[in-house]
Amino acid sequence: MTFHSMWAELLPIGRSSASGGYRRFAWTEADADCRAWFEQQARGRGLAYETDRNGNQWAWLGDPARGDAVVTGSHLDSVPDGGAFDGPLGVVSAFAALDELRRRGARFTKPLGIVNFGDEEGARFGLACVGSRLTAGALTVEQAHRLTDAEGITLPQAMEAAGYDPDAIGADPHRLDRIGAFVELHVEQGRALDLSGDRIGIAGAIWPHGRWRFDFRGEANHAGTTRLADRRDPMLSYAQTVLAARREAELAGAVATFGKIAVEPNGVNAVPSLVRGWLDSRAADQESLDAVVGGVKKAAREYAAAHGVDLDVERESFTPVVEFDHALRDELARILATGTDLTVPVLGTGAGHDAGILSGRVPTAMLFVRNPTGVSHSPAEFAAEDDCVAGVTALADALEGLACT
Ligand code: GLV
Ligand code: MN
Ligand code: MN
Repeated sequence: MTFHSMWAELLPIGRSSASGGYRRFAWTEADADCRAWFEQQARGRGLAYETDRNGNQWAWLGDPARGDAVVTGSHLDSVPDGGAFDGPLGVVSAFAALDELRRRGARFTKPLGIVNFGDEEGARFGLACVGSRLTAGALTVEQAHRLTDAEGITLPQAMEAAGYDPDAIGADPHRLDRIGAFVELHVEQGRALDLSGDRIGIAGAIWPHGRWRFDFRGEANHAGTTRLADRRDPMLSYAQTVLAARREAELAGAVATFGKIAVEPNGVNAVPSLVRGWLDSRAADQESLDAVVGGVKKAAREYAAAHGVDLDVERESFTPVVEFDHALRDELARILATGTDLTVPVLGTGAGHDAGILSGRVPTAMLFVRNPTGVSHSPAEFAAEDDCVAGVTALADALEGLACT
Protein backbone atom coordinates (compact mmCIF):
# COMPACT_ATOMS: atom_id res chain seq x y z
CA MET A 1 0.00 0.00 0.00
CA THR A 2 1.27 3.46 -0.80
CA PHE A 3 1.28 6.39 1.61
CA HIS A 4 -1.54 7.81 -0.49
CA SER A 5 -3.78 4.73 -0.29
CA MET A 6 -3.24 4.27 3.45
CA TRP A 7 -4.05 7.93 3.97
CA ALA A 8 -7.21 7.63 1.87
CA GLU A 9 -8.41 4.63 3.92
CA LEU A 10 -8.09 6.50 7.20
CA LEU A 11 -9.62 9.77 5.99
CA PRO A 12 -13.34 8.94 6.43
CA ILE A 13 -12.96 7.38 9.90
CA GLY A 14 -14.48 9.52 12.63
CA ARG A 15 -14.88 12.55 10.37
CA SER A 16 -17.80 14.83 11.14
CA SER A 17 -19.62 15.82 7.98
CA ALA A 18 -20.86 18.94 9.79
CA SER A 19 -17.44 20.35 10.72
CA GLY A 20 -15.08 18.41 8.47
CA GLY A 21 -13.05 17.71 11.62
CA TYR A 22 -12.24 14.44 13.35
CA ARG A 23 -13.87 13.06 16.51
CA ARG A 24 -11.76 10.03 17.19
CA PHE A 25 -12.07 9.84 20.96
CA ALA A 26 -10.63 7.09 23.12
CA TRP A 27 -12.61 3.85 23.27
CA THR A 28 -15.37 5.01 20.92
CA GLU A 29 -16.48 3.41 17.67
CA ALA A 30 -14.26 5.73 15.62
CA ASP A 31 -11.31 4.74 17.80
CA ALA A 32 -12.16 1.05 17.28
CA ASP A 33 -12.24 1.61 13.51
CA CYS A 34 -8.80 3.28 13.65
CA ARG A 35 -7.50 0.36 15.72
CA ALA A 36 -8.92 -2.17 13.26
CA TRP A 37 -7.12 -0.29 10.48
CA PHE A 38 -3.82 -0.47 12.41
CA GLU A 39 -4.16 -4.20 13.03
CA GLN A 40 -4.96 -4.80 9.37
CA GLN A 41 -1.86 -2.82 8.29
CA ALA A 42 0.30 -4.80 10.71
CA ARG A 43 -1.00 -8.23 9.74
CA GLY A 44 -1.02 -7.37 6.04
CA ARG A 45 2.74 -6.79 6.28
CA GLY A 46 3.35 -10.03 8.16
CA LEU A 47 4.25 -8.18 11.36
CA ALA A 48 3.62 -9.67 14.79
CA TYR A 49 0.65 -7.75 16.18
CA GLU A 50 -0.14 -7.20 19.86
CA THR A 51 -2.12 -4.91 22.12
CA ASP A 52 -0.41 -4.17 25.42
CA ARG A 53 -2.04 -4.05 28.86
CA ASN A 54 -2.81 -0.34 28.42
CA GLY A 55 -4.46 -0.72 25.02
CA ASN A 56 -1.53 0.58 22.97
CA GLN A 57 -1.11 -1.28 19.68
CA TRP A 58 2.25 -2.66 18.53
CA ALA A 59 3.44 -4.24 15.29
CA TRP A 60 6.82 -6.00 15.30
CA LEU A 61 9.35 -6.97 12.70
CA GLY A 62 11.80 -9.19 14.53
CA ASP A 63 11.49 -10.35 18.12
CA PRO A 64 11.31 -7.43 20.60
CA ALA A 65 12.52 -9.77 23.35
CA ARG A 66 15.98 -9.43 21.80
CA GLY A 67 16.03 -5.87 23.14
CA ASP A 68 17.51 -2.64 21.79
CA ALA A 69 14.46 -2.32 19.52
CA VAL A 70 13.90 0.74 17.35
CA VAL A 71 10.29 1.92 17.57
CA THR A 72 8.36 4.50 15.61
CA GLY A 73 4.72 5.58 15.53
CA SER A 74 2.34 8.08 17.07
CA HIS A 75 -1.42 8.12 17.79
CA LEU A 76 -4.69 7.85 15.86
CA ASP A 77 -7.10 9.62 18.25
CA SER A 78 -8.01 13.29 17.85
CA VAL A 79 -9.09 16.41 19.69
CA PRO A 80 -12.73 17.48 19.15
CA ASP A 81 -12.97 18.46 15.48
CA GLY A 82 -9.26 17.89 15.01
CA GLY A 83 -7.27 17.74 11.81
CA ALA A 84 -6.31 14.65 9.83
CA PHE A 85 -2.56 14.88 10.43
CA ASP A 86 -1.92 15.25 14.17
CA GLY A 87 -1.09 11.66 15.08
CA PRO A 88 -2.10 9.69 11.96
CA LEU A 89 0.75 11.19 9.93
CA GLY A 90 3.23 9.50 12.28
CA VAL A 91 1.48 6.12 12.13
CA VAL A 92 0.92 6.06 8.36
CA SER A 93 4.50 7.28 7.81
CA ALA A 94 5.79 4.46 10.03
CA PHE A 95 4.18 1.76 7.86
CA ALA A 96 5.22 3.60 4.68
CA ALA A 97 8.82 3.90 5.95
CA LEU A 98 8.93 0.15 6.63
CA ASP A 99 7.67 -0.48 3.07
CA GLU A 100 10.39 1.83 1.76
CA LEU A 101 13.08 -0.01 3.73
CA ARG A 102 11.87 -3.34 2.38
CA ARG A 103 12.04 -1.90 -1.15
CA ARG A 104 15.60 -0.82 -0.42
CA GLY A 105 16.38 -4.37 0.71
CA ALA A 106 17.48 -3.07 4.11
CA ARG A 107 18.84 -5.73 6.48
CA PHE A 108 17.54 -5.21 9.99
CA THR A 109 19.95 -5.94 12.82
CA LYS A 110 17.51 -4.80 15.48
CA PRO A 111 13.80 -5.44 16.05
CA LEU A 112 11.60 -2.72 14.55
CA GLY A 113 8.32 -1.73 16.22
CA ILE A 114 5.43 0.41 15.04
CA VAL A 115 3.13 1.75 17.76
CA ASN A 116 -0.24 3.44 18.06
CA PHE A 117 -0.48 4.95 21.53
CA GLY A 118 -4.02 5.13 22.91
CA ASP A 119 -5.75 8.32 24.02
CA GLU A 120 -2.95 10.78 23.28
CA GLU A 121 -5.16 13.86 23.10
CA GLY A 122 -7.13 13.26 26.28
CA ALA A 123 -10.21 14.64 24.53
CA ARG A 124 -12.61 12.33 26.36
CA PHE A 125 -11.18 11.89 29.86
CA GLY A 126 -9.31 15.19 30.18
CA LEU A 127 -5.80 13.79 30.59
CA ALA A 128 -3.45 13.65 27.60
CA CYS A 129 -1.20 10.69 26.74
CA VAL A 130 -3.02 8.16 28.92
CA GLY A 131 -1.63 5.14 27.04
CA SER A 132 2.00 6.21 27.20
CA ARG A 133 1.70 7.64 30.73
CA LEU A 134 0.35 4.36 32.06
CA THR A 135 3.06 2.38 30.29
CA ALA A 136 5.80 4.67 31.60
CA GLY A 137 4.37 4.62 35.13
CA ALA A 138 3.65 8.35 34.93
CA LEU A 139 -0.04 7.72 35.73
CA THR A 140 -1.04 5.34 38.50
CA VAL A 141 -3.77 2.74 38.11
CA GLU A 142 -5.78 4.49 40.85
CA GLN A 143 -5.55 7.84 39.02
CA ALA A 144 -6.52 6.22 35.73
CA HIS A 145 -9.51 4.48 37.31
CA ARG A 146 -10.81 7.83 38.52
CA LEU A 147 -10.82 9.42 35.03
CA THR A 148 -14.39 10.19 33.95
CA ASP A 149 -15.83 11.59 30.74
CA ALA A 150 -18.52 14.27 30.36
CA GLU A 151 -21.27 11.60 30.51
CA GLY A 152 -19.96 10.21 33.79
CA ILE A 153 -18.50 7.09 32.16
CA THR A 154 -15.23 6.10 33.80
CA LEU A 155 -12.14 5.01 31.89
CA PRO A 156 -12.48 1.39 33.12
CA GLN A 157 -16.11 1.31 31.99
CA ALA A 158 -15.20 2.71 28.57
CA MET A 159 -12.32 0.24 28.15
CA GLU A 160 -14.54 -2.66 29.14
CA ALA A 161 -17.28 -1.59 26.74
CA ALA A 162 -14.64 -1.56 23.97
CA GLY A 163 -13.59 -5.12 24.87
CA TYR A 164 -10.44 -4.36 26.89
CA ASP A 165 -9.62 -5.43 30.42
CA PRO A 166 -9.29 -2.34 32.65
CA ASP A 167 -7.90 -4.45 35.49
CA ALA A 168 -4.83 -5.19 33.39
CA ILE A 169 -3.66 -1.56 33.07
CA GLY A 170 -0.48 -0.34 34.71
CA ALA A 171 3.21 0.38 34.33
CA ASP A 172 5.00 -1.79 31.79
CA PRO A 173 8.71 -1.31 32.50
CA HIS A 174 9.83 -4.52 30.75
CA ARG A 175 8.22 -3.36 27.52
CA LEU A 176 10.11 -0.07 27.68
CA ASP A 177 13.36 -1.76 28.68
CA ARG A 178 13.37 -3.55 25.34
CA ILE A 179 13.35 -0.27 23.39
CA GLY A 180 16.67 1.29 22.43
CA ALA A 181 15.24 4.28 20.55
CA PHE A 182 11.81 5.77 19.87
CA VAL A 183 11.30 8.16 16.94
CA GLU A 184 7.91 9.88 16.51
CA LEU A 185 7.19 11.68 13.25
CA HIS A 186 4.57 14.43 13.60
CA VAL A 187 3.06 17.25 11.59
CA GLU A 188 4.57 20.53 12.76
CA GLN A 189 2.09 22.54 14.83
CA GLY A 190 3.59 25.89 14.05
CA ARG A 191 5.16 27.69 11.10
CA ALA A 192 8.88 27.42 11.82
CA LEU A 193 9.56 25.09 8.88
CA ASP A 194 7.42 27.14 6.54
CA LEU A 195 9.35 30.25 7.51
CA SER A 196 12.76 28.60 7.20
CA GLY A 197 11.83 26.90 3.91
CA ASP A 198 12.60 23.39 5.19
CA ARG A 199 10.41 20.33 4.75
CA ILE A 200 11.64 18.43 7.81
CA GLY A 201 12.78 19.41 11.30
CA ILE A 202 14.01 17.63 14.42
CA ALA A 203 12.57 18.29 17.89
CA GLY A 204 14.78 19.93 20.48
CA ALA A 205 12.50 20.30 23.48
CA ILE A 206 8.85 20.34 24.54
CA TRP A 207 7.73 23.22 26.71
CA PRO A 208 6.47 22.39 30.21
CA HIS A 209 2.68 22.39 30.11
CA GLY A 210 -0.42 21.49 32.06
CA ARG A 211 -4.18 21.73 32.52
CA TRP A 212 -5.91 23.42 35.46
CA ARG A 213 -9.64 23.25 36.25
CA PHE A 214 -11.20 26.43 37.64
CA ASP A 215 -14.60 25.99 39.38
CA PHE A 216 -16.42 29.28 39.99
CA ARG A 217 -19.51 28.62 42.15
CA GLY A 218 -22.18 31.26 42.57
CA GLU A 219 -25.96 31.12 42.86
CA ALA A 220 -28.47 30.14 40.18
CA ASN A 221 -31.25 32.67 39.83
CA HIS A 222 -33.78 34.14 37.41
CA ALA A 223 -32.16 36.16 34.60
CA GLY A 224 -35.17 38.47 34.36
CA THR A 225 -36.05 39.16 37.96
CA THR A 226 -32.76 39.15 39.88
CA ARG A 227 -31.35 42.63 40.40
CA LEU A 228 -27.74 42.96 39.24
CA ALA A 229 -26.72 43.96 42.76
CA ASP A 230 -28.23 40.77 44.20
CA ARG A 231 -26.46 38.35 41.88
CA ARG A 232 -23.57 36.01 42.63
CA ASP A 233 -22.75 35.40 38.98
CA PRO A 234 -19.71 33.14 38.40
CA MET A 235 -19.70 33.95 34.67
CA LEU A 236 -18.39 37.44 35.45
CA SER A 237 -15.38 36.26 37.43
CA TYR A 238 -14.74 33.55 34.85
CA ALA A 239 -14.80 36.10 32.00
CA GLN A 240 -12.38 38.38 33.85
CA THR A 241 -10.11 35.40 34.49
CA VAL A 242 -9.99 34.58 30.77
CA LEU A 243 -8.70 38.10 30.14
CA ALA A 244 -6.22 37.78 33.00
CA ALA A 245 -4.86 34.58 31.44
CA ARG A 246 -4.19 36.40 28.21
CA ARG A 247 -2.50 39.25 30.09
CA GLU A 248 -0.29 36.95 32.16
CA ALA A 249 0.72 34.93 29.10
CA GLU A 250 1.68 38.08 27.22
CA LEU A 251 3.76 39.30 30.18
CA ALA A 252 5.65 35.98 30.42
CA GLY A 253 6.05 35.33 26.68
CA ALA A 254 4.02 32.16 27.23
CA VAL A 255 0.62 30.86 26.11
CA ALA A 256 -2.56 30.36 28.11
CA THR A 257 -5.94 29.23 26.81
CA PHE A 258 -9.39 28.65 28.23
CA GLY A 259 -10.72 26.41 25.43
CA LYS A 260 -13.30 24.35 27.29
CA ILE A 261 -16.08 25.43 29.59
CA ALA A 262 -19.03 23.80 31.36
CA VAL A 263 -21.90 25.86 32.72
CA GLU A 264 -24.66 24.86 35.14
CA PRO A 265 -27.58 24.93 34.81
CA ASN A 266 -26.71 26.14 31.28
CA GLY A 267 -29.98 27.95 30.68
CA VAL A 268 -30.29 31.13 28.61
CA ASN A 269 -32.59 32.68 31.20
CA ALA A 270 -30.69 31.64 34.34
CA VAL A 271 -27.78 33.23 36.15
CA PRO A 272 -25.34 30.28 36.34
CA SER A 273 -24.61 28.46 39.58
CA LEU A 274 -21.34 27.04 38.27
CA VAL A 275 -18.84 27.97 35.58
CA ARG A 276 -16.08 25.43 35.15
CA GLY A 277 -13.27 26.48 32.82
CA TRP A 278 -10.14 24.57 31.90
CA LEU A 279 -6.88 26.49 31.56
CA ASP A 280 -4.18 25.06 29.30
CA SER A 281 -0.90 26.88 29.78
CA ARG A 282 2.58 26.32 28.39
CA ALA A 283 5.87 28.21 28.53
CA ALA A 284 9.48 27.81 27.46
CA ASP A 285 10.59 27.29 31.06
CA GLN A 286 9.11 26.30 34.39
CA GLU A 287 9.59 29.70 35.98
CA SER A 288 7.53 31.45 33.30
CA LEU A 289 4.81 28.79 33.49
CA ASP A 290 4.64 29.17 37.28
CA ALA A 291 4.38 32.95 36.86
CA VAL A 292 1.47 32.62 34.41
CA VAL A 293 -0.52 30.08 36.40
CA GLY A 294 0.20 31.83 39.71
CA GLY A 295 -0.92 35.14 38.21
CA VAL A 296 -4.12 33.66 36.76
CA LYS A 297 -5.02 31.99 40.07
CA LYS A 298 -4.42 35.21 42.01
CA ALA A 299 -6.57 37.22 39.61
CA ALA A 300 -9.31 34.55 39.67
CA ARG A 301 -9.40 34.63 43.48
CA GLU A 302 -9.75 38.42 43.51
CA TYR A 303 -12.50 38.45 40.87
CA ALA A 304 -14.37 35.62 42.59
CA ALA A 305 -14.26 37.47 45.92
CA ALA A 306 -15.50 40.65 44.26
CA HIS A 307 -18.59 38.83 42.98
CA GLY A 308 -19.32 36.74 46.06
CA VAL A 309 -18.31 33.60 44.18
CA ASP A 310 -16.39 30.58 45.56
CA LEU A 311 -13.35 29.40 43.66
CA ASP A 312 -11.67 26.01 43.57
CA VAL A 313 -8.64 25.34 41.35
CA GLU A 314 -7.34 21.87 40.63
CA ARG A 315 -4.28 20.90 38.55
CA GLU A 316 -5.49 18.02 36.39
CA SER A 317 -2.27 17.25 34.58
CA PHE A 318 1.28 18.44 34.23
CA THR A 319 4.26 17.58 32.05
CA PRO A 320 7.64 19.11 32.93
CA VAL A 321 10.01 20.38 30.25
CA VAL A 322 11.25 17.62 27.94
CA GLU A 323 14.73 17.89 26.50
CA PHE A 324 15.03 15.18 23.85
CA ASP A 325 18.06 12.90 23.95
CA HIS A 326 20.94 14.92 22.50
CA ALA A 327 22.90 11.96 21.19
CA LEU A 328 19.89 10.58 19.30
CA ARG A 329 18.94 14.02 18.02
CA ASP A 330 22.48 14.60 16.69
CA GLU A 331 22.58 11.09 15.22
CA LEU A 332 19.33 11.76 13.32
CA ALA A 333 20.64 15.11 12.09
CA ARG A 334 23.79 13.36 10.83
CA ILE A 335 21.79 10.57 9.14
CA LEU A 336 19.40 13.01 7.45
CA ALA A 337 22.25 15.22 6.22
CA THR A 338 24.27 12.31 4.77
CA GLY A 339 24.56 12.50 1.00
CA THR A 340 22.67 15.80 0.78
CA ASP A 341 23.37 19.41 1.54
CA LEU A 342 20.26 19.38 3.71
CA THR A 343 20.42 21.04 7.09
CA VAL A 344 17.67 19.94 9.40
CA PRO A 345 16.56 22.64 11.84
CA VAL A 346 16.08 21.78 15.49
CA LEU A 347 12.73 23.09 16.76
CA GLY A 348 11.18 23.53 20.18
CA THR A 349 7.45 22.98 20.52
CA GLY A 350 4.62 23.86 22.84
CA ALA A 351 2.69 20.70 21.90
CA GLY A 352 2.64 17.59 24.04
CA HIS A 353 3.48 14.15 22.61
CA ASP A 354 3.81 10.51 23.68
CA ALA A 355 7.48 10.94 22.74
CA GLY A 356 7.72 13.47 25.56
CA ILE A 357 6.28 10.99 28.05
CA LEU A 358 8.59 8.19 26.90
CA SER A 359 11.66 10.41 26.92
CA GLY A 360 12.06 9.92 30.66
CA ARG A 361 12.55 6.17 30.10
CA VAL A 362 13.86 5.69 26.55
CA PRO A 363 16.16 7.66 24.19
CA THR A 364 13.57 9.53 22.16
CA ALA A 365 13.51 11.84 19.15
CA MET A 366 10.91 13.51 16.94
CA LEU A 367 10.78 14.51 13.30
CA PHE A 368 8.46 17.32 12.20
CA VAL A 369 6.89 17.69 8.74
CA ARG A 370 6.18 21.18 7.41
CA ASN A 371 2.70 22.58 7.93
CA PRO A 372 2.28 25.64 5.67
CA THR A 373 -0.22 27.47 7.85
CA GLY A 374 0.89 26.14 11.22
CA VAL A 375 -2.77 25.45 12.05
CA SER A 376 -3.37 22.36 14.18
CA HIS A 377 -6.15 20.95 16.39
CA SER A 378 -8.53 22.19 13.68
CA PRO A 379 -9.94 20.78 10.44
CA ALA A 380 -7.70 23.28 8.60
CA GLU A 381 -4.55 21.40 9.70
CA PHE A 382 -2.56 20.51 6.57
CA ALA A 383 0.67 19.18 5.12
CA ALA A 384 1.31 18.86 1.38
CA GLU A 385 1.60 15.33 0.07
CA ASP A 386 5.14 15.83 -1.26
CA ASP A 387 6.21 17.06 2.20
CA CYS A 388 4.56 13.99 3.75
CA VAL A 389 6.43 11.77 1.31
CA ALA A 390 9.67 13.61 2.20
CA GLY A 391 8.78 12.82 5.82
CA VAL A 392 8.47 9.11 4.99
CA THR A 393 11.88 9.17 3.29
CA ALA A 394 13.43 10.96 6.27
CA LEU A 395 11.87 8.47 8.68
CA ALA A 396 13.03 5.53 6.53
CA ASP A 397 16.56 7.01 6.49
CA ALA A 398 16.45 7.46 10.26
CA LEU A 399 15.21 3.90 10.89
CA GLU A 400 17.75 2.47 8.45
CA GLY A 401 20.54 4.33 10.21
CA LEU A 402 19.38 3.15 13.63
CA ALA A 403 18.17 -0.41 12.98
CA CYS A 404 19.94 -1.75 9.89
CA THR A 405 23.49 -2.70 8.97
C1 GLV B 1 -1.52 17.56 22.42
O1 GLV B 1 -1.53 17.63 21.19
C2 GLV B 1 -1.33 18.75 23.18
O2 GLV B 1 -0.27 19.39 23.01
O3 GLV B 1 -2.23 19.13 23.93
MN1 MN C 1 -2.56 17.06 19.30
MN1 MN D 1 -0.17 14.52 18.22
